[in-house]
Amino acid sequence: MIITLIGGGSTFTPGIVKSIALRREELDVTEIRLFDIDKERQDKVAVVVDWILHKELECDIKLTVTTDPKTAYTDASFIFAQMRVGKYAMREQDEKIPLRHGCVGQETCGCGGMAYGMRTIFPMIEAIDDVEKYAKPDYWILNYSNPASIVSEACRRLRPNARIINICDMPIAIIDMVAAALGIENKKEIVYDYFGLNHFGWFTSIEHNGKDILTPLRKYIKENEIFLPAAYLKSNSSLAKNSKTGNRHAKGSWYYVWKGEYEIMENFPEMLPNTYLNYYLQQKEFVEHSDPDYTRANEVMDSREKNLFEGIDRYLETGELEKDVFYAGSHGDWIADLAIALKNDTKARFLVITENKGALPNMPHDAMVEVPAYVGKNGPEVIAQNPIPLFQQGLMMQQLNCEKLLVEGCIEGSYEKVLQAFTLNKTVPSMNVAKAVLDDMIVANKDYWPELK
Ligand code: NAD
Ligand code: G6P
Ligand code: MN
Repeated sequence: MIITLIGGGSTFTPGIVKSIALRREELDVTEIRLFDIDKERQDKVAVVVDWILHKELECDIKLTVTTDPKTAYTDASFIFAQMRVGKYAMREQDEKIPLRHGCVGQETCGCGGMAYGMRTIFPMIEAIDDVEKYAKPDYWILNYSNPASIVSEACRRLRPNARIINICDMPIAIIDMVAAALGIENKKEIVYDYFGLNHFGWFTSIEHNGKDILTPLRKYIKENEIFLPAAYLKSNSSLAKNSKTGNRHAKGSWYYVWKGEYEIMENFPEMLPNTYLNYYLQQKEFVEHSDPDYTRANEVMDSREKNLFEGIDRYLETGELEKDVFYAGSHGDWIADLAIALKNDTKARFLVITENKGALPNMPHDAMVEVPAYVGKNGPEVIAQNPIPLFQQGLMMQQLNCEKLLVEGCIEGSYEKVLQAFTLNKTVPSMNVAKAVLDDMIVANKDYWPELK
């Protein structure tokens, strides 16, 4: 059984490989292949992947590292995708250009997310076509590549029969935080209900061994005025410098979204919002506390990326791989668990991004929504829900139509539709601002975007 990682040079590759290798028996995996378009970057990451497989875990999984699609996908059963088109250099542009115009500067939300989406649609379609050509006929692509909601809408439009499931690790990271806040050791005992679009959803119930824990969580957040366990905090205004590869969602500017969870719940306490909703509900405040010259892209380049590549260089010099060079945990476990559910037909419960088809009765049939599903060998069996309240439905419709217009505009090369998408986004205060941001982004993305007429 062959698993291929697209974006083999990603900072998440070592952690994902470790999760796969730890579950090698359930996955019956014999070979892991890394595929990337940046040979130099991937060859470096492959050094640590080789160490994980053959030194740390001493398994006999073969490792193949390639930039050739045929070598990457031939007879592969699972393809885990995590490409970042334009890499961190373009993420930095996605975050900084909107901030220059007073708009939220974020990797996957608002104008930054739309720019990233327009770079990613066609490389993802190309990857799907290569996989179709070379992989096993019953392949599954499990896609983490962001912005997952725009990517999933583009796949639905352009390759409706592709065997692809789009996923996100944020709800899992939030559940990790719930467990840490409430002192629950085994987070697998936590079951939750959720609805939304990707990076745009709400938990409606959270239970531990059948007992409601959303009520004690609400109380915890209210009392602490933040949704972060004390261990993560140095003072009430900044994050402790925990180990280099500790919980990355509790580092640097991530602080503000955990604080924002408290702020949102002070007004709307019924549901637990996804952290990303802060960018849409507190857009003004998030612009105000952003540093337009040093955004999350800079934080990541100065920490996760630097730490990994410097650690690899030191390993090559000394033969010693220090701990904390890479992160392993929920992100890799989640995608490995999903592959196990598909392969072994376990019908385990996962959140997936999938075509609505009535699961949320008052959202369009063809919306790509993020909802719980039981996953077995034929893919996700989505759980139908009750109609969602007007506030959430209104927000979701605005965001959904924005994403649909963006994808349409990108496919058709229509400046007007893309401008409508930018204008419709809740992080953008006026049509004229939308146009100014878009025009700057066209220049910055000239090597990546389709031409807009
Ligand atoms: P990274 O820049 O370290 O790695 C991305 C890799 O993708 C790079 O090595 C790059 O060369 C490669 N790449 C770019 N275009 C490619 C293409 N067309 N084909 C193959 N490879 C290509 O980025 P990272 O921070 O490690 O993140 C990797 C991806 O995972 C990003 O898309 C990020 O947004 C995503 N991510 C998603 C979730 C989620 O919840 N869905 C969680 C974490 C990360
Ligand atoms: C969460 C989200 C991902 C996003 C990541 C960014 O995990 O679910 O979609 O890519 O955060 O994290 P970073 O550390 O790169 O800012
Ligand atoms: Mn995500």
